[in-house]
Amino acid sequence: MDKSKRKAIIAGNWKMNKTPSEAKALLEELIPLVKDADCEVIACVPYVDLAVAIETTKGTNIKIGAENCHWAESGAFTGEVSTGMLKEVGVEYVVLGHSERRQYFGETDETVNKRTKAALAAGLKPIVCVGELLWERECDITEEVIARQIKLDLFDVSAEDVKKTVIAYEPVWAIGTGKTATSDQAEEVCAFIRATLAKLYDEETAQAVTIQYGGSMNADNCDELLAKTNVDGGLIGGASLVAAKFQPIVAAASK
Ligand code: PGA
Repeated sequence: MDKSKRKAIIAGNWKMNKTPSEAKALLEELIPLVKDADCEVIACVPYVDLAVAIETTKGTNIKIGAENCHWAESGAFTGEVSTGMLKEVGVEYVVLGHSERRQYFGETDETVNKRTKAALAAGLKPIVCVGELLWERECDITEEVIARQIKLDLFDVSAEDVKKTVIAYEPVWAIGTGKTATSDQAEEVCAFIRATLAKLYDEETAQAVTIQYGGSMNADNCDELLAKTNVDGGLIGGASLVAAKFQPIVAAASK
């Protein structure tokens, strides 16, 4: 295994936070703090913040992502946003299958798969989230749950396309709870995800995929998590909303 072949990616997931003016202020604060980062830095922001976020970060090393997209090109899907709309405003990444969407908005592996394929077809890079519930971990079925999600979410995605896909391992019990998976737990599941990819595709493809950990990652625990062989970055919720809390995580990934 050679982690150095993969670029570390630190992505903020702002969720339903920050109005456009607040988004501009946060990004302006962040730009000088992360300008020398030796990792990819992404801010995934609410739809209405995308235009201002892209304008504010033009010419900087911060890339902008959306938090979801629909699979159809257009049509009668009130409240949804298409990949073409995201592309036109300059979005590069899109978070898909986040556990909050699965939990509160009826997202299924089937719809995550459709969204993933549509995003890739449009030239967007998906950040596909997988993760087990606490109950599932307690029942010792974490690997079954993760393997099922990986297989279904990436069904019919080519090896070439999966290399453009980021997988975020986010144990649901660790999201926004302050409970972080230990670095060993994170490594165990991230390594399992890579082994699953190697079975579905091949070893070379599996080695090329960036696998992030997400769930209460912060300045205090990021060093240990990011040092793990199969943890190539982080998807950061709470700590991405304050520049001074996000910056140390970017710095840790740049080491
Ligand atoms: P958290 O969120 O860092 O606030 O736990 C992570 C996420 O949901 O992506």
